[in-house]
Amino acid sequence: MKSYQIITFGCQMNEHDSEVISGMLAQRGYTETEENPDIVIINTCSIRENADKRFFGTLGQLKKVKIANPDFAVCVCGCMMQQEHITTKLRQSYPWVDVIFGTHNIHEFPDMLEEMFEKRAAEGEWTVKQVRSSKEFRVDRIYEDRAEIVEGLPARRLFRHKSFVNIMYGCNNFCTYCIVPYTRGREKSRHPEDILDEVRGLVADGVKEVTLLGQNVNSYKGKTKIDEKTWDFTDLIYALNDIDGLERIRFMTSHPKDLSDRLIEAFAKCEKLCNYIHLPVQAGSSNVLKRMNRKYTREQYLELVRKLREAVPGIAISTDIIVGFPGETEEEFEETLSLAKEVCYDSAFTFLYSPRKGTPAAEYVDQIPEETKHVRFNRLVDIMNEGSKSRNAAFVGRVCRVLVDGPDKKESGILNGRTEEFKLVDFEGPEELIGQIVDVEITASNTFSLRGRMV
Ligand code: 5AD
Ligand code: SF4
Repeated sequence: MKSYQIITFGCQMNEHDSEVISGMLAQRGYTETEENPDIVIINTCSIRENADKRFFGTLGQLKKVKIANPDFAVCVCGCMMQQEHITTKLRQSYPWVDVIFGTHNIHEFPDMLEEMFEKRAAEGEWTVKQVRSSKEFRVDRIYEDRAEIVEGLPARRLFRHKSFVNIMYGCNNFCTYCIVPYTRGREKSRHPEDILDEVRGLVADGVKEVTLLGQNVNSYKGKTKIDEKTWDFTDLIYALNDIDGLERIRFMTSHPKDLSDRLIEAFAKCEKLCNYIHLPVQAGSSNVLKRMNRKYTREQYLELVRKLREAVPGIAISTDIIVGFPGETEEEFEETLSLAKEVCYDSAFTFLYSPRKGTPAAEYVDQIPEETKHVRFNRLVDIMNEGSKSRNAAFVGRVCRVLVDGPDKKESGILNGRTEEFKLVDFEGPEELIGQIVDVEITASNTFSLRGRMV
């Protein structure tokens, strides 16, 4: 049987899609390998420009492999396939790519792959000349969107003890910088029963922690199958909190405009819901937020942070921030700096604004020069790092419950795990503890991680 490797770019949603692709291939008898695979699948991301560049760079490398071995199969999928200018380029200039599928037909991939192999068998295998001169055996199928959700796909998890669970797909928000609504389609929520069944199944299989995934999880609206009642995200959290054997619930990503008081209260009431929230702010200026179509102001965001910290003292908060959005003035940027200082985030992902073809902001005339973006970016990162450092320092001396993920990649005898607040902790311990929750006393801290000792 043939072997495969998946190269994944981008967010957790893509990582989870890759787990599903892997699960489906494993079910059909393919084996995963990192050395000389027969099939490579590239799961692409289009959120920022460097993701595009890395994809075409990787394809360039794979062409060399294909020329050396024309039997080799190259498959591409993910968000970039939902953008017409990309598929046009692929179809015109990369005819040797064997299978192309999008974000809405992942479930069809194993059949498409087999269809491609049959086509090759019927029409003759690729020759080096054909790779170079564009003869196609390609199977190419992409849908613009899909109304229904395909349930029951297998997934090969990266970890035994924790798992992603998709609860909704797509996004309706159309932030003006963002490509996601175009690549992932409109919002669709899974039935609550399907989610609960999946989580119960995962728990029976040893999973202790689930991360609920969606572009905007807190706008979840799932209809029950029996009586067609609509559940919101908080209803789902309460129901998950009741599942025996499940220890931790996380979610990602939430939109400030949909963070309800009831959800904030659920952090306090549901013992399994971790004291951690990723709450992307994107910018600290209400003007910029308006131009981004974020639908909240600086003041409203700060009020949410206040409420969260009041309801759940010690809650960790992380964020995403974009620097150099079109028209961002020095004063507006300074409002981002002052918000960052005021909130004092536990951690942050900071991005240089990158125009995405097809989004409104890409057409704005007042694009910020790259040089200015970089200078602002560095100023912001310094403040973010100071915040993370001080938030981490406050953990020293505390005993934390740590879910052990695995051995440290660099130091032998050292394990890595996460606290409820999603803090990375290194400590000495035997590998038998992987997948367990253990008590660790924090002995030292730095900007991105904590050091501890098991108690
Ligand atoms: N440029 C820069 N950053 C972006 N993001 C989304 N689109 C862009 C863009 N065009 C960032 C946002 C989002 C995160 C996943 O990626 O901060 O929250
Ligand atoms: Fe993109 Fe905004 Fe939707 Fe998030 S909420 S995926 S940033 S459009």
